[in-house]
Amino acid sequence: MASIFRERLLEGKTAFVTGGGSGIGLRIAERFAEHGAKVMLVGRRAEKLLEAQQGIASRGGAATTAALDVREYSALEAALHRAHDELGPIDIVLAAAAGNFPAPVLGMSSNGFKSAIDIDLIGTFNTCRAAYKYLRTPGASIIAISASHATVPIPYQAHVCAAKAGVELFIKTLALEWGPQGIRCNCITPGPTADTEGMRRLAPTAEIQERVRAGVPLRRLGTKDELADLALFLCSDAASYITGATFVCDGGQSLARAGLSIEAVGGF
Ligand code: COA
Repeated sequence: MASIFRERLLEGKTAFVTGGGSGIGLRIAERFAEHGAKVMLVGRRAEKLLEAQQGIASRGGAATTAALDVREYSALEAALHRAHDELGPIDIVLAAAAGNFPAPVLGMSSNGFKSAIDIDLIGTFNTCRAAYKYLRTPGASIIAISASHATVPIPYQAHVCAAKAGVELFIKTLALEWGPQGIRCNCITPGPTADTEGMRRLAPTAEIQERVRAGVPLRRLGTKDELADLALFLCSDAASYITGATFVCDGGQSLARAGLSIEAVGGF
């Protein structure tokens, strides 16, 4: 679906997008490219990145790729260095790489818990920390993809709740530390979003999806396009005085589900 914004808002800008090979990260990267940004797509799998890059190019956009794991700081540093060399100072960083699986605390090992902390929280730290010296200042915008997990406890999601809570406070702290350099740092909190890996993992059956839908005040799943337009707004000049904020785009789900029990989730 095309953006609801008619003007090209990111002409001449560059964007570095982790988790850019698929899902929400890719749709946001596509939106950035539609609006004139040159994009570096970062993800673990080279073939997915190539497909994503070709999709953007076929619609007249400009994208390059870097296959790496956000858990590896030096790999991120090298990719950012290359992005800066090839595309210029970085205006936008989108930290969208994430890992998730449903499991009760007693059903995951220490390493299982750590996998979400490493990918979501440390990965976001690595991305922002490594990006700093390549950012355009003033004017750069950092967006991290969080989740309602950051503020609402969710059964079978202890690892992701802990990681995303960390991501949100990390980004707010960054807004304080990097504000004087003119760098804005914000979070987007998606709700249940159609056609994503997250929904496939957390709501794998039609029955669970229906229950999720019924628990959303707007009574439907969100779309990746809605998140893409929010990200576009946040890194555009229209949001030039917004930093340290979390934008919830979840149809009101997090308001409705505070205190959800295991029975209400229905098990996996
Ligand atoms: N239940 C319990 N533990 C699980 C699990 C599950 N469903 N899936 C993985 N784990 C555990 C593993 O057993 C392992 O722990 P161990 O070493 O003690 O056995 C640990 O998590 C790491 O798993 P591994 O597959 O080696 O890690 P990875 O780094 O290759 O993958 C994941 C990370 C687990 C997050 C994987 O699901 C992934 O790569 N996800 C990326 C895509 C994604 O999750 N997208 C959704 C975003 S919302």
